[in-house]
Amino acid sequence: MDMTTTLVDHTFRKDVRRCFEQQTYALPARWLYDRRGSELFEEITELPEYYPTRTETKLLRDHGADFAKAIGEGRAVIEFGSGSSVKTPHLLRALNPAAYVPIDISGEFLEHSAAILQEDFPDLPIHPVEADFMTRVELPDAVADLPKLGFFPGSTIGNMIARSSVDLLRFMRETLGIGSQLLIGLDRVKDPNVLIDAYDDSAGVTAQFSLNLLDRINRELEGDLPVEMFRHVATWNDDYARVEIYLEAQADMTFSIDGKKHGLSKGQRIHIENSHKFGLRDARLMLRAGGWSPLCDWSDEQDYFTLILAEAHPYKHAP
Ligand code: AVJ
Repeated sequence: MDMTTTLVDHTFRKDVRRCFEQQTYALPARWLYDRRGSELFEEITELPEYYPTRTETKLLRDHGADFAKAIGEGRAVIEFGSGSSVKTPHLLRALNPAAYVPIDISGEFLEHSAAILQEDFPDLPIHPVEADFMTRVELPDAVADLPKLGFFPGSTIGNMIARSSVDLLRFMRETLGIGSQLLIGLDRVKDPNVLIDAYDDSAGVTAQFSLNLLDRINRELEGDLPVEMFRHVATWNDDYARVEIYLEAQADMTFSIDGKKHGLSKGQRIHIENSHKFGLRDARLMLRAGGWSPLCDWSDEQDYFTLILAEAHPYKHAP
């Protein structure tokens, strides 16, 4: 077992304990992505109701010439949370970069996607980095002297509360350095019905994705949670501008995890995910708070999704 696996086990156990023992009834969304969860998420991206992936991919495909102009050739593209890297080819084709560095916490996914991408880009130097990007990442020496473009698609930042998203942007600034650019994908505020449908699809794939978290607890932490007694719930929180995902107990129940007994009352919800949505000005404020100056942006005709290009300028003094 390698270091990362041990670390993940330990933190997962700690987070699950806190959820049930200290009765916070909240679990970080990152635990949704074990092997099964990652497969289910790939399925989500193909659902008719789940517009973000398809909308963002079309933006990346359609605006290649704009990216080439605003970003230029010869940068190293650093992708944060690359996963299966499906959107990346469009960007790489437009930019003709000097190197590609996919960063992901899951090592096996990383090597596999890098190998597949290498087939399409035989001359591109690819340097995968297995790391948690929620902190400063040490980039490979090979890209140290290259100008850099961070790539953070998928509105992944929407999973974070405001404070964490700003922390992350500041870490990215440290990782990439002054003069770097960042291309970030953000899901927009829109009709709540469209949002709810995207997170509670009619085929029930998103529900399976949520419920898999309980299966994961049972599998990895010797639990016997009655998964079939929970319901997936998606709600729109207008104050926080986010979709909130819960698992709701459908009856009083007792179960054990890790040799410890716990109980839940009927109706008790476990908060497992936030997916923040952004207005354009909200997005720009968030970027500036994290040390990134917005340069330009691209949206679809419905304003469902936006790509923003920003740059890390040296800090200036007030006003
Ligand atoms: C991967 C965090 C961008 O919030 O839309 C999709 C995750 N969860 N359906 C999102 C997700 C349920 C997704 N992100």
